[in-house]
Amino acid sequence: MNLRISSFDEYKTAYEKSTHEPEAFWEEIADTFTWQTKWKNTLSWEFNTPNVKWFEGGKLNITENLLDRHLPERADQVAFHWEPNNPNEAGKQITYGELHEEVCKLSNGLKELGVGKGDRVCIYMPMVIESVVVILACARIGAIHSIVFAGFSSQALADRINDAEAKLVLTADGLNRGGKKVDLKTMVDEAISKCPSVQHVVVLDCINSNPTLNEKDIWYHELISNQSEFCIAEEMDSEDLLFILYTSGSTGKPKGVVHTCGGYMVYTAYSFQNVFQYQEGDVFWCTADIGWITGHSYIVYGPLLSGATSVIFEGIPTFPDPGRFWQVCEKYKVNQFYTAPTAIRSLMGAGLEYVQPYDLSKLKVIGSVGEPINEEAWQWYYKNIGNEKCPVVDTWWQTETGGIMISGLGDLSPMNPTHAGYPLPGIQPVLLDNEGNEIGDNEVEGYLCMKFPWPSILRTTYGDHERCKNVYFSNYDGYYFTGDGAKRDKNGMYRIIGRVDDVINVSGHRFGTAEIEDAINTNEYAIESAVVGYPHDIKGQGIYAFVVVDGGLKDDDEAIIESISVSVSQMIGKIAKPDKIQLVSGLPKTRSGKIMRRILRKIAEGERTNFGDTSTLLDPSVVEEIIDRAL
Ligand code: WT7
Repeated sequence: MNLRISSFDEYKTAYEKSTHEPEAFWEEIADTFTWQTKWKNTLSWEFNTPNVKWFEGGKLNITENLLDRHLPERADQVAFHWEPNNPNEAGKQITYGELHEEVCKLSNGLKELGVGKGDRVCIYMPMVIESVVVILACARIGAIHSIVFAGFSSQALADRINDAEAKLVLTADGLNRGGKKVDLKTMVDEAISKCPSVQHVVVLDCINSNPTLNEKDIWYHELISNQSEFCIAEEMDSEDLLFILYTSGSTGKPKGVVHTCGGYMVYTAYSFQNVFQYQEGDVFWCTADIGWITGHSYIVYGPLLSGATSVIFEGIPTFPDPGRFWQVCEKYKVNQFYTAPTAIRSLMGAGLEYVQPYDLSKLKVIGSVGEPINEEAWQWYYKNIGNEKCPVVDTWWQTETGGIMISGLGDLSPMNPTHAGYPLPGIQPVLLDNEGNEIGDNEVEGYLCMKFPWPSILRTTYGDHERCKNVYFSNYDGYYFTGDGAKRDKNGMYRIIGRVDDVINVSGHRFGTAEIEDAINTNEYAIESAVVGYPHDIKGQGIYAFVVVDGGLKDDDEAIIESISVSVSQMIGKIAKPDKIQLVSGLPKTRSGKIMRRILRKIAEGERTNFGDTSTLLDPSVVEEIIDRAL
């Protein structure tokens, strides 16, 4: 079970082996897991279709690897310490033995509701232990989970349920978030009224809100009440689907990224143990929500596969005050802490008086994920949270990569602020120029691509393989295209610059500009819109929307702006609400009718005079008007 590299030299050896004999390298790691039937073919791949298969013919169930396998030695070990939103309420904990029982009970309950292998199940839940149980119960019976972050709107939920044609939804009556309670049940009711595929809704009583249950609804506690604590794990092929997770891209609706059982298992465990240098007895805490890939891979799968003890936190960093994260670190003697730059920047702003009261001496590794971490935030984190003794692992990866791809490995690797660092063993990044030529180590920015498959690479986008090919495998022949721009220094360390496509990264959350524009355009006043990202002190990027309104500009814009904002909340969720909405009478377009986003991006960044070549603009006065009223 120990997959940990323990020196930088060992890393170099592992890396060498992983590139020269990739199959032998991954076979050795995969061999440490429990397979019901050993695989026949380690890897077959070709990026053009794309078609990637790892450990073909291998039979396994991931839950046997993260529960049953551990029981002889870890039945009484805590798997999760659950910390509630409100620090004055009691926490809970669950051992590996108890988690196994709970998962089996729910698995049996789900089977009773007619859910089986290959069925899609949508999960829309708070940060509670039952959410982990729910995920693992799906995996145990071979159902494919599709988790939707509980901050998405009912419309966004409905879109995702329909795309996956989910048979069942697991949710809660509501959730606690800072000083507020959020009603989830009503959102689900609204959503499923548009979702013909849904047969049942299982509801966890989380905030005691006493909702009325409808015909399709059943309480979670009733479903599991008489179920057996044993459930045989379904035999899955290595390449059977484990889950779908929706994420935004440049165009169209969010796409369902597909991960499969064997490769995802091997890579999340391997990357978890190495990046965080997790050791027996340590307490790990990843602050992400399970609704994002970070939560999937580093709250649920990676840690449990490794037999780790983790913290799962219901609340937010600033409630009841900005010392909450550090208080929780002290309380559970956290050894590895993993959060996002946006959280670091907001806590940094609150001041050191919220850090100093707490004992952070147990920390060994502190991590960052979701967007580039700026130098100032890096230094603050390193100095005040890590006390200058903990390495900062700046982990670069994506929903599509399943696990961490470029990062330091605990304290083994050299560090350089704002540089994610070196690729993990098995990862072969390249930087390409516009023509698709590989760029050398000369600090020139290029498109970050991968030239060889790793076990947890996405296999397809659900229901639309062509789209997967077009988005990730068509830009450069024979490469996986990440959508990010990056540089590599003379030592071979990577620095991620940011997205090169129309994806905006707001507080580590990914949105497509087209997706937000579509939401705005549903508004009755909006005729047309253009959305761009701009630098934001806390969020990394903010959302700036230019909206052409019906009947031209008036003085009472406020009501219209508010109504546009509400439209975005309704279509996607509050997390996608534009930071700035500017009403305009027209958008800058070329003679051929294409919106000149470059100009809008510059205006959003604060540029007022220098726009480069504007000779193709159809009507330059449009730009002047926008500048005059720019926010
Ligand atoms: C995009 C993926 C998988 C982590 C959560 C976000 C950006 C992520 C870093 C980092 C610079 C980063 C990239 C990437 N990103 N981590 N350490 N440094 N940029 O997953 O929603 O799929 O977003 O997040 O732009 O492409 P995601």
